[in-house]
Amino acid sequence: MTDLTELSEPVSFPQDRTCPYHPPTGYDPLRTVRPLARIQLYDGRPAWLVTGHAVARDLLADPRLSTDRTRSGFPATTPRFAALRDRKPALLGVDDPKHRTQRRMMIPSFTLKRATELRPRIQEIVDELLDAMIAQGPPVDLVRAFALPVPSMVICALLGVPYADHEFFEEQSRRLLRGPTAEETQDARDRLAAYLEELIDHKQRQPGEGLLDELVQQRLREGELDREELTALAMILLVAGHETTANMISLGTYTLLLHPDRLAELRAAPSLLPDAIEELMRMLSIADGLLRLATEDIEIAGTTIRAGDGVVFSTSVINRDEDVYPAPDTLDFHRSTRHHVAFGFGIHQCLGQNLARTELEIALRTLLERLPGLRLAAPPEEIPFKPGTTIQGMLELPVGW
Ligand code: HEM
Repeated sequence: MTDLTELSEPVSFPQDRTCPYHPPTGYDPLRTVRPLARIQLYDGRPAWLVTGHAVARDLLADPRLSTDRTRSGFPATTPRFAALRDRKPALLGVDDPKHRTQRRMMIPSFTLKRATELRPRIQEIVDELLDAMIAQGPPVDLVRAFALPVPSMVICALLGVPYADHEFFEEQSRRLLRGPTAEETQDARDRLAAYLEELIDHKQRQPGEGLLDELVQQRLREGELDREELTALAMILLVAGHETTANMISLGTYTLLLHPDRLAELRAAPSLLPDAIEELMRMLSIADGLLRLATEDIEIAGTTIRAGDGVVFSTSVINRDEDVYPAPDTLDFHRSTRHHVAFGFGIHQCLGQNLARTELEIALRTLLERLPGLRLAAPPEEIPFKPGTTIQGMLELPVGW
């Protein structure tokens, strides 16, 4: 392991991946500097990068690290992120005790039991989309035809958002997470907020079925949430609910198709699927670069993180810590993937993980069962994937069968 001080030049973070399922090769120097390395953010500001698994879990559970991005000095990995500071955040952007109050309101809708109850509806959605894809015939862009609509339809059903509006909110989410300029991000955020405010008004007049309706009836009416908070909650649920899982379906499928032995193993023993999904979660680490601000000095691993320092967690590097995952760059469905941090850790650990795992299992199982000849319809190196500044995934995925 390299000593921290041996890296003369701080590595810039984030960088684009060279292969969509491996960390950027530009992070190679960082992978040997565990558990903490120095990086430089896009604005020239230095920050800590957490690279070691045990220290990552300690720090993600440490209340001295804040996720409140309205605090001055909160680190940003893109100008886009810096542009989102001026509005009230929810869940991921707030600390305890507010976080605890908001999270408690959400938990009943995201339990394993609730995800299990949603299984028949998710299966129906997956079947209908595959029917349409098969009827259309190959080649098909799997992102548009399947990977994006599955989680988008599911989160609409759960929240009570009309799927008829999907083109609008998918486009705004795309601009929010990937827009080229800060202005574009702000505009997307404002449009989404205006849309959700109108939807909340409508639900106040005419209650329907869904989590947003429950929040309007129970929490807004009782004054436990104000309109701005409810809008912020609705936005994070809608955006996180579809963009993330969509990327796991598309990038997961791409990765399996480029590992034909592993794919054959999975087809021969479908009961391996839950383990395969955890291993794909570890290996792909699509949410790569979780942000925090130190609010007090923290002594850890022989180093002091000072109050005011920015701390970034590279899940792709942490999930390949070879002290925890031997031969970390190999896709292996039989390894123990316990404690990977692809869903984060601590109080902000992904609220939607039960739902995401259920969607991934139904989507991948049904896709592989119904299309035994699934294959890429373009050379793998020509298929475009997302830049390092956003959640990782495929921009498109042409397939045949
Ligand atoms: C495979 C898909 C998904 C991945 C990889 C993923 C990843 C993550 C990660 C890494 C975090 C923690 C971020 C941090 O600590 O800075 C997180 C938080 C969160 N995720 Fe997910 N997520 C996925 C699916 C979902 C889904 C389907 C939802 C549904 C609404 C969702 C909603 C959330 C929310 C609300 C938070 C913030 C929780 C809090 O602050 O208490 N995610 N997710």
